[in-house]
Amino acid sequence: MIINKPPMGWNSWNTFGWNINEQVVRETADYMVESGLRDAGYEYVVIDDCYALRDRGPDGRIVPDPDKFPSGMKALSDYVHSKGLKFGMYSCAGIMTCAWYPSSYDKEFLDAQTFADWGVDYLKYDFCNFPKTADPRMAYTRMAMALKATGRDIVFSACNWGEFEVEKWIRSAGAHLYRSTGDIGERFSAVLNICNSQYEKMRYSAPGCFNDMDMLIVGMDGVGNVGHPGLCGDTEYKTHFALWCLNGQPLMMGSDVRRLRPEMLKLHTNKDLLRIDQDEECRPPMIAGKVWDNRPSYFKHLSDRQFVLAFFNFADEPGNSDFRPWNIGFPTTAGFGMNLREVFTGEVVGPVNDYMSVDLAPHDCCVFIGEWVAL
Ligand code: GAL
Repeated sequence: MIINKPPMGWNSWNTFGWNINEQVVRETADYMVESGLRDAGYEYVVIDDCYALRDRGPDGRIVPDPDKFPSGMKALSDYVHSKGLKFGMYSCAGIMTCAWYPSSYDKEFLDAQTFADWGVDYLKYDFCNFPKTADPRMAYTRMAMALKATGRDIVFSACNWGEFEVEKWIRSAGAHLYRSTGDIGERFSAVLNICNSQYEKMRYSAPGCFNDMDMLIVGMDGVGNVGHPGLCGDTEYKTHFALWCLNGQPLMMGSDVRRLRPEMLKLHTNKDLLRIDQDEECRPPMIAGKVWDNRPSYFKHLSDRQFVLAFFNFADEPGNSDFRPWNIGFPTTAGFGMNLREVFTGEVVGPVNDYMSVDLAPHDCCVFIGEWVAL
């Protein structure tokens, strides 16, 4: 199975953590259909840690907690599938999960079969409580083999937080995406630290195996497991989402989508940003402006001869971000210019064939999709 585009969907962890249950999953699936999120491309509904009983059953299998999931996982997965969505679950390469539930170390083939029996389409595979004497590459390879051996197409989402230079071996291990950083929290600084840490590593992300900078915190509004009231507003969500799309990231919503404000629903379904995220060429962005001042700009090739020119103000004060054509080797005398359209406002600019500067509020951004035009 090849995954050509970064997966899109929802994951329970950021908001629900320990409090995940069947009703939340069903209502989330319902809402993803009613709201148009499914039709915008969000297809995976993923249950993270804390769904199981502490002990395995007599047959050695993981047992879903009957208080949280009274209908059982197969019925829930059937429900999710009936909505035209796909069903995802979670396990871990260590001896117990991060929240100390049963985990798949040395039980990979049995657990993979259990997930396949439940109709799972996507497995997030964590790294807590992994024996210091064991080999991470072997553990992820083994689970990839186990999933394939079930005969079911299951997206394999590795999550070892970027450790052991994961980007260098995870593609051969058989994963379709790999978490490249520690956990996100609902803080703008976390968004920036995560993103900046991956700039040089984005070259490893391509169809078949994608870099994963963690689930989105867009629209969490301070609620839930990794929520921090007051630390992010609409501007920070906007810039976070733009950065994830610019970097061709998996888009796994982390909010309680049933309670998304209309502005946040609009942001998650911005057609231009999703087009950028899902672009089939999957090229990483490059720096196009000044590299000091915390106000970078990026250029990124897209398919269909288009491109992105995106300007950011990561700083806490207003300021300008700029485009320096020479930084990307664009000759101002080439006889070509850039026709630009901003993806949030629809503003049209151009043709641009020289230095360009954009004033931005703190933490704000603007993102243009561009086309080349003869002057
Ligand atoms: C962490 C992981 C999170 C979440 C959590 C569950 O290791 O990075 O995304 O899955 O475990 O306990």
